[in-house]
Amino acid sequence: MAQKIAFITGGNRGLGFQTALDLKNTNIKVVIGSRDLAQGEEAVAKLRAAGVDADVLQFDITNPADAQKAYDYFDSNYGHLDILINNAGIAGGTFPGTGPAHSAGEVPLDLLHRVFETNFFSLIALTNKLLPLIRKSEAGRIVNLSSILGSLTLHGTPGSPIYHAKSFAYDASKTALNAYTIHLAYELRDTKIKVNSAHPGWVKTDMGGPEATLELSEGGKTSAELATLGADGPTGGFFHQGKALPW
Ligand SMILES: NC(=O)c1ccc[n+]([C@@H]2O[C@H](COP(=O)([O-])OP(=O)(O)OC[C@H]3O[C@@H](n4cnc5c(N)ncnc54)[C@H](OP(=O)(O)O)[C@@H]3O)[C@@H](O)[C@H]2O)c1
Repeated sequence: MAQKIAFITGGNRGLGFQTALDLKNTNIKVVIGSRDLAQGEEAVAKLRAAGVDADVLQFDITNPADAQKAYDYFDSNYGHLDILINNAGIAGGTFPGTGPAHSAGEVPLDLLHRVFETNFFSLIALTNKLLPLIRKSEAGRIVNLSSILGSLTLHGTPGSPIYHAKSFAYDASKTALNAYTIHLAYELRDTKIKVNSAHPGWVKTDMGGPEATLELSEGGKTSAELATLGADGPTGGFFHQGKALPW
């Protein structure tokens, strides 16, 4: 079987790095995107030492030229892309938290724009730019790192585990991302490409913070599973470790 090619944005640390680790022994070449090339190179050295076939691409999702750069990189080196893990994201505050960043009534508009720019607009620009290369894959997989905090159903249900965990800018960006998952999966329903949203769990990363319930070693599982779904796997869904979440 030919080696598959994966791109993980924000792969230099946190969940992106862990997901790259989890893809070892899968015959997948993992290219991590890293804003800082030196940090990316350090991460690649660790991944290779752990047995992952890895490379790094300097990549900032909010730089429009970098989406074209990514397209050119995968086109010229491989002619296609099998797996895109849209992992890079920002919180726009700390978790759990209070204050304007978390308040629907007081959210600073510049913060709302900044969070959406990274977590939504730029992610779509990248995915749509790379889509022609993913269409050339035998079995394309797109994984959008959403969050349970993007679930409108759970936010609207008193007593749900996240009812009081409201971070407006971040949550809304992930809800919007979930809409992209559903719409893109619909458009690609007659292709071999599967598009899903992932909730990794509340994971101890720089973003998740030390109070998070999952260790980093557990946090890459959902992304890795959705990236390696078989032909009979789902598309257009929202999952945490194999279980469907409500939108
Ligand atoms: N941790 C959790 O509990 C949790 C729960 C649900 C969902 N998620 C989602 O999972 C994803 C990864 O989260 P994490 O916990 O690993 O976060 P993290 O530890 O803060 O790492 C974020 C990663 O995204 C990169 N990034 C941020 N802005 C970027 C940009 N403009 N261009 C390219 N890369 C950028 C960071 O790069 P730099 O090193 O250059 O900053 C870093 O590699 C996010 O989408 C997050 O929303 C996390």
